[in-house]
Amino acid sequence: MLSLKDVYYRYEPGGIEALCGVSLEINDAEHIALIGPNGCGKTTLIRHLNALLLPEKGSVVVNGLDTKKERNNAQIRSLVGMIFQNSDDQIVGMTVEEDVAFGPENLCLPAKEIKKRVDESLERVGIADLALRNTENLSGGEKRLVAIAGVLAMRPRYIALDEPTAFLDPAAAGMILEIIDKLHREGVGIIHVTHNMAQAALAERIIVMNEGKLYLDGTPEVIFGKVEILQKINLRLPQVTQLLIKLKEKGYPARTDIVNMEEAINYIEELIKKE
Ligand SMILES: Nc1ncnc2c1ncn2[C@@H]1O[C@H](COP(=O)(O)OP(=O)(O)OP(=O)(O)O)[C@@H](O)[C@H]1O
Ligand SMILES: [Mg+2]
Repeated sequence: MLSLKDVYYRYEPGGIEALCGVSLEINDAEHIALIGPNGCGKTTLIRHLNALLLPEKGSVVVNGLDTKKERNNAQIRSLVGMIFQNSDDQIVGMTVEEDVAFGPENLCLPAKEIKKRVDESLERVGIADLALRNTENLSGGEKRLVAIAGVLAMRPRYIALDEPTAFLDPAAAGMILEIIDKLHREGVGIIHVTHNMAQAALAERIIVMNEGKLYLDGTPEVIFGKVEILQKINLRLPQVTQLLIKLKEKGYPARTDIVNMEEAINYIEELIKKE
C-alpha cells in the first residue's frame, strides 16, 4: 500500500504550496487515474511516491517504508517505478538493452539475471527487436516504451506514469494504454496521470486534484457524474458521456452515466435493436 498522510510540499521556501495537506491511500494492484488542471500538483504528488521528492510536512509510506528514511530509498525505488513526462529525462544507456539493464545493474544482480530481466522486459512491452538500437535514434513512442521496459526490469509493484501518451500519435498512444491494461491485469498497481478524460475513464478509481489538494476521489462513473463540480475547475467529461448527454437533451432516452466507449457501443446497440 502507498500511504500519504497530510503531505505538504513547496519547491521554494515561502513559495506556493504545490501540495497542501494531501492524505491518500493507494492499495496494491489498483488502477488509478490522477487528473486535474495544469499546476494542480499531479507531478509533484507522484514524485513523492518514490522518494524523488520528500514531504515538507506529513509522511509518505510505501509498503511500510517511510520515504524520509534514506536507507529505504533503494527498496522504495524498486517498488515504485516512475515514467517521466519526458522520456529523454530517463533514458541513459547508449543502446536500448544497455538502458534497460541500468536499473538491475544498480541492484548489483548477477549478469545472467540482468540479461533475463532485460529480455523479459523488452518482450513485455513488445520491443525485443529494438534491443541493439542506439537510444538516440528512437521515435518518441519507442522512447516511451524503452522507459517502461527500464522500469519493468526493476519488477516494481506500482508504476506511476506522468502523461505517458502526450505527444504520441493515436497508434502509439493506444499501445501504451494496452500495456497499462496488461500490467494492471498482471497485478501491478498503476497511477496514471492524464489530461485525457477517455483515458481516465479506463481506470478503476479517479483521483481529482485542484490547487495542491485532493478534490474528488471515486469510480469513473461517480466522478463523471459530478458535472458541475468538475466544470468549476474546467474539467470536461469523456466525449462519449458528452454525446449521450446531448442525445438526452434532444429528447432521446439516453443514459448519461456511461463513461467509456465499449459500454456506450453496447448500450446504443441495445437501443437500436429495441427500435
Ligand atoms: N521545479 C519547480 N520549481 C518551482 N515550482 C514548481 C516546480 N515544479 C512545479 N512547480 C509548481 O508547483 C505546482 C504544482 O506543479 P505540478 O508540476 O505538480 O503540477 P501538475 O498538476 O503536474 O501540472 P501539469 O498538468 O501542467 O503537468 C505549480 O504551481 C508549479 O508551478
Ligand atoms: Mg505534471
